[in-house]
Amino acid sequence: MKLDIRIDVSRAKSSAVGSEHGITPGELRDLQPRVDEAHAILQRQRAEGEYGFWDLYKQADVIEQVNAAASRFSEKGYENLVVLGIGGSSLGIIALGTALLSPFHNLLTKRGRKSLPRLFVMDNIDPVVFREMMRICPPKKTLYNVISKSGGTAETMSQLMIITGEIEKKLGPGAMKDHVVVTTNPRSPEAPASLLHPVADEYGLTEFAVPLNVGGRFSVFSPVGMFPAAMLGMDIHAMMEGCAAMDQRCSSADLKENPAYLRAAFQYLAATNKGKVMSVMLTYANGLYSVADWYRQLWAESLGKRYSLDGEEVFAGQTPIKALGATDQHSQIQLYREGPNDKLINTLEVKKFAKTVPIPNVLASIDKLSYLRGATMNRLMAAELQGTIDALKLSQRPVARIILPRVNAHTVAQVLYMLEVETAMAGRLFNVNAFDQPGVEEGKRIARKLMGAEG
Ligand code: PA5
Repeated sequence: MKLDIRIDVSRAKSSAVGSEHGITPGELRDLQPRVDEAHAILQRQRAEGEYGFWDLYKQADVIEQVNAAASRFSEKGYENLVVLGIGGSSLGIIALGTALLSPFHNLLTKRGRKSLPRLFVMDNIDPVVFREMMRICPPKKTLYNVISKSGGTAETMSQLMIITGEIEKKLGPGAMKDHVVVTTNPRSPEAPASLLHPVADEYGLTEFAVPLNVGGRFSVFSPVGMFPAAMLGMDIHAMMEGCAAMDQRCSSADLKENPAYLRAAFQYLAATNKGKVMSVMLTYANGLYSVADWYRQLWAESLGKRYSLDGEEVFAGQTPIKALGATDQHSQIQLYREGPNDKLINTLEVKKFAKTVPIPNVLASIDKLSYLRGATMNRLMAAELQGTIDALKLSQRPVARIILPRVNAHTVAQVLYMLEVETAMAGRLFNVNAFDQPGVEEGKRIARKLMGAEG
């Protein structure tokens, strides 16, 4: 079975939507030398270990540790896995959980030693949500995975303090090691000190390291995403193979061969030459909707920059938007078709859904429903997608398609890995640092100060 994801940019070309809105062959040709140059820089940064996301899938020893810890903790039969983390520390497992677990996982999971835990991701500090989570997930039945690369983020630290208080009160401090796992910066002299290190020491907690050269939003294939994935029984091996397959496809600088670079080129040219200041990720499968959310962070935080790599003020970036087909056809598509032509619309599509739902031969007296009788929900979804793409073409709206043969650990990993490589290349094309986030750090600093923190 062929499991490669497919990229189709034909509907974003000038031949489909005209040269005012679509990318011309000449524009792509002219960009190739810049892509070659950027590829050489990225290759060097990778080889020198400046940035490490490309090679996370090769860390067999880390994956082994993650799997070993997951089997150890799974033996204890927790009913709930609660991930405490925000931004890059939570969006990866939300994306994987939504794509790879049953849509009703938390309702279907049975209680007991042999079954998978329910998943709750606390990526905010809404007191109502947190209090309800505490009620539904009492410490005795819960494993908490506290994830913070910096080990200092106020939102996550406050959550850690609350659950520590609860565990100490209900089970005693000695129980912390059976209920809390931390994932944070490595313990090395070059790494900034994480507040999770002394906590892990005090209570003897299991601890995973996020490599120093991997930023939050690029960390899904590190223990940040992989430990909760292993706890939830996901096929990590297939994910690693998916990354390897995509890495292989992304090894050439040639835009005709490298899917990530081709997409980066289209997004960059659409933004700079065609006024497409927004990048929509329109998913035609509910399971992929959170991948669009993950992409939203990756694209926004990586490319939204005030200064260029040369220190000039540029205010770069393209606003990422997430949308869901067919649902948003009845909400957003009117704007996308007839509003300002300022968007590149990316679709995330599935060729074959895991289930087929036939539409039965009923309501025979209603002639106007005969086109649905005997069809399937799957065929209707495919028609809605094709109809939208064709309608967008009629109004000269560029569409870049990502097509998964089916949704599984292998294909979803390919998508995530490709989007990471695409973002790294887009950073070079936009001439910004895709790997920092000074705007986020500033907000964190001010909030801590408002709370009375010193220093
Ligand atoms: O991608 C990023 O760097 C950010 O979104 C971080 O993931 C987010 O701010 C959380 O940071 P930390 O993991 O240090 O708590």
